[in-house]
Parts: sequence; structure tokens; C-alpha cells
Amino acid sequence: MQKWSARNPVGRIAYVNGRYLPHAAAGVHIEDRALQLGDGIYEVTNVIAGKPIDEEPHLDRMERSLRELGIEMPMGRPALKLVMREMIARNRISNGLLYLQVTRGASKRDHVPPKQPPRPTLIPTMRAQDMAGLAVRMEKGIAVSTQPDIRWGRCDIKTVQLLPNLLAKQAAKKAGAFEAWLVDHDGYVTEGASTNAWIVDGEGNVVTRDLSHAILPGVTRKVMLEAMAAAQMKVVERKFTVAEAQGAREAFISSATGAAVPVVTIDGKKVGDGTPGPLTRRIHDLYATKAGTKTA
Ligand code: PDD
Repeated sequence: MQKWSARNPVGRIAYVNGRYLPHAAAGVHIEDRALQLGDGIYEVTNVIAGKPIDEEPHLDRMERSLRELGIEMPMGRPALKLVMREMIARNRISNGLLYLQVTRGASKRDHVPPKQPPRPTLIPTMRAQDMAGLAVRMEKGIAVSTQPDIRWGRCDIKTVQLLPNLLAKQAAKKAGAFEAWLVDHDGYVTEGASTNAWIVDGEGNVVTRDLSHAILPGVTRKVMLEAMAAAQMKVVERKFTVAEAQGAREAFISSATGAAVPVVTIDGKKVGDGTPGPLTRRIHDLYATKAGTKTA
């Protein structure tokens, strides 16, 4: 498969404020507030067989993030859906990731947003998903490394301010892990650097942290919870410690880039017997059936 690079982007067409442009020619104003102040939000939507997955809940969350920051939606939902479809068609990517970023717009640098709000900047881009890499992670599972959660107090808003997340992920990579699990001051796992965190506890309950300002309300998390409820699985939304996770029967992560990806080690300690667990596989299948991500 063709590799992504800034010179040779696989997703060739970007959309910037009303125009579809070749990726390399697309740009924003140097005083865009996201560039200078991190004043913006984003969504990542999986695209399978040319269709955006979990589209409505992603757009619900996008609207919520914008509302929380007092940024206008750049356009109405029906128009945005058209742009999303146009992006998929123009990029000719059937299995990929659609990235939607909205910033407060360009204005003279000032922490306080201007009274007359600038026009929000809408910048969707798209790229192919590494389906082979995902298949390997599903089959073999991934390693997780725990890192201190040094983020701010509103992790429920999906802002583009991702420095703590990227530092944690970088440290995890250095430790030979695929994902970082962020740990709060009290020793409880909040979530992954770019995923939600789950375990199967000693009683067979599927456990994930309850929603609060401490974690992102994952769309995949929400849809998986609905699928599990319909299948009458035992689910508990509560905190868990690193030690509990290491002693759990199973562990996994979820995000738009991969639902129920098995976690087989945490800081080098095997979870269960160190291979992907049966409930994780079942939850993956329940989600895939509900969300329509089954490719085979
Ligand atoms: N990340 N938690 C964090 C901190 C995230 O960044 C994400 C998503 C999730 C999972 O949310 P969802 O199921 O809605 O994808 C949880 C995206 C994929 C990213 O930053 O690339």
C-alpha cells in the first residue's frame, strides 16, 4: 500500500472553507486560532465501504464540543454530511479515516476571542486506514504502557490540544507499547491517549470508566455499550486501577480507528494468559454488526 507522507499524501483532496483543494495546496491563515492557541475541536470518523460509521453520534459530539467552547457550527448538519460524502468520493478511499477539524477561525492573536466572531475554519482531510495493521493488532493484541495523566480538567471536549496525549503516546512507543493508558493522581486509569480503556474483571463484568470531565465520551464506547446491553452482557461503568487491570481476565481499547482491540500486556505484565480474550472478540463482533464495520 502507498505510504502517507506530506509530499505524497494518500488522501489527496482536502476541503478548506468552501473549496476542495489538492492536499499539498490546502492551507489555513497563519493567525488561525487553532494554530496559535489550540482553539479548535476535531472528530475522527471511520469510513468502511465508502460509508461514514457512527456518523450521527460523531456529529452530535462535534456539536457538543463546539457548544462547550462557544464556537459556531461552520455549516448545518445536512451540508456537513454532504461535504463528508464528497470527501470520500473525491479521495476515492473506501476504507479510511475522515478527520473533521473546526477552529474558531482567524483573528489577531489575543487570548480572548473577538467580540465579532470570525468565521469558523472547517478543515476535513481523509486518509486510507491501515487495515492490515489493524488485522494484526486484532489477532495478536497490543501492549499498553501506563503514563501519568497530565491533561486539563475538560477531557470530555475533543479539542486539538493534544500535547499531553502525544507525549504519553511517544513515551509508550519508546517503552515498546502501542497505546498509553493514562493514570490519574489516585492511581486509576482514565483512558488511553487516543482510545477508551476497558477490562473484564474477576466476576466477568465488562468495566470501563464512567463518564465525567476526566475522559472523552467515546462514540465507539457508546455504541459498544448499547450493543452489549442488547446482548444482555454484564457491564459496569466505574474506575479501575492499574493493578486491577493487570490482574483482569481481559483488557481492550476502543476508538473509531479500532473497536475492542485486545490489550495483552500492561507495563510488560500479561493480562490473563497474554492472548486476546473471548469476550473482547465477542464485543468486537457485536459492535461490528451494530455499526456496520464488518468487511468480510
Ligand atoms: N481518538 N479517548 C481519547 C482521548 C480519544 O482521543 C479518542 C479518539 C477516544 C475514542 O473515541 P471514539 O470512539 O469516539 O473514537 C477516547 C481519535 C480516534 C484520535 O484522536 O485520532
